[in-house]
Amino acid sequence: MLARMSNLSFDVRSANAQHMYHPMIDPKAVQASPPLIIDRGEGVYVYDIDGKRYLDTVASLWNVNVGHNRPEVIAAMKAQLDKLAYYSTFQNTSNPPAIELSARLMQMFAPERMNKVFFSSGGSDAVETALKLARQYWKLQRQPDRHQFISLKWGYHGVHFGGASINGNPMFRSAYEPLLPGCHLAETPYTYRNPWNQTDPAQLAQLCLDQLAQLIEQVGAHHIAALVAEPVQGAGGVIVPHESYWLGLRQLLDAHGILLISDEIVTGFGRIGTLCGARAWGVAPDIMAMAKGINSGYVPLGATLINDRVASAWNQPGVPAALMHGYTYSGHALACAAANANLDLVTREDLPGNASRTGAYMQEQLQALMAYAHVGEVRGKGMMAAIELVSDKASKTMLLPPSAYIQTLVGTARQAGAIIRVQGNRLILSPPLVFSRAHVDEMLRVLHIAFQAAEKV
Ligand SMILES: Cc1ncc(COP(=O)(O)O)c(C=O)c1O
Repeated sequence: MLARMSNLSFDVRSANAQHMYHPMIDPKAVQASPPLIIDRGEGVYVYDIDGKRYLDTVASLWNVNVGHNRPEVIAAMKAQLDKLAYYSTFQNTSNPPAIELSARLMQMFAPERMNKVFFSSGGSDAVETALKLARQYWKLQRQPDRHQFISLKWGYHGVHFGGASINGNPMFRSAYEPLLPGCHLAETPYTYRNPWNQTDPAQLAQLCLDQLAQLIEQVGAHHIAALVAEPVQGAGGVIVPHESYWLGLRQLLDAHGILLISDEIVTGFGRIGTLCGARAWGVAPDIMAMAKGINSGYVPLGATLINDRVASAWNQPGVPAALMHGYTYSGHALACAAANANLDLVTREDLPGNASRTGAYMQEQLQALMAYAHVGEVRGKGMMAAIELVSDKASKTMLLPPSAYIQTLVGTARQAGAIIRVQGNRLILSPPLVFSRAHVDEMLRVLHIAFQAAEKV
């Protein structure tokens, strides 16, 4: 049918949103306002089907960290495709790129004493794997009653039933409930909005830890397998905890033997200035769920890493410990080849270092947006930031879509040459980690144009 159509771009446009559901939006809204169609990318820019160029201020979805269409990654993928695109890693076959990647990850995360990796196809898979490995760990430790989970309010852990069950925002859960039983939410150290109206980040961190200690007491530590948290909450609105929080968390969990699962899907591979997010807080988790920046999204890939402590459960002589878990695409050769080339760039170009240095400049420049009437807070760390949109600064009432303000903000930014993302009442910025100061300046120029237009609505 497509072959009969003479002008392909016209056909793409007319079919847009007619046959495909898009994530996280009502299909009716997408049909009423069909999506921007991205045709190609180059570095920190993408181009639509009309050839218009946009600065990608969100690295697509926090993930294209090395930038679009990098020749180094493409060459490695082409070389791999010429040999083997894919072969299963179930049971007794493997492939060189997956083996290389597993060794590389252990080297990168030696300071966290990571010991083994289980590959999957994305972030939700990586979280699901983490939850299942945590449960199996406790069964192998002969403590099968430890099967419940704690996570933080506002946390986002993907969309599988396990991840949705520990999700800290009802928006992502309610359509699919009932979910997994035995999942509990603890308060998150969110200085701008918290039940105590506590504005001192260190004191808030302590209040949250105290509340968590009470929760552990109520549930009973002997029932809790693991606590899952993001080092900086991403989709929840770039919530940056006080530096004391993760250290306190680790101590509290250690006191009760509870595993710490760090959801590094966004923070892994440099986004907040360190190779993993937990490292920024001086904490070594037991399990890390990773995806996105592992290969900058060139091919779907997820990875769940476990440390010496967790891996030791599978080493007990005479104890049957089969991993009855796995994905057809676990250790996908093409995805792993892309990851190896991508991680070469992350190391060679010191992208965590750039995220720290250029990220600090970005955070500083973004503070200028506080001058706008509907900007309640600008916060972030490294190369992730959120601008909290409010109807007025005093009440902090969320300015939520659909609102003419947000539509104008996003629409004007597009016209002015940048893709920006508003989720709920937060404008999220998570540029590729190869962003330079000049790119930050370009982003700020567009943001000022967009905010000035929105303030007139
Ligand atoms: C912290 C976190 N965990 C898990 C996920 C789920 O990853 P995916 O969308 O690749 O399944 C995401 C996605 O944005 C995420 O931000």
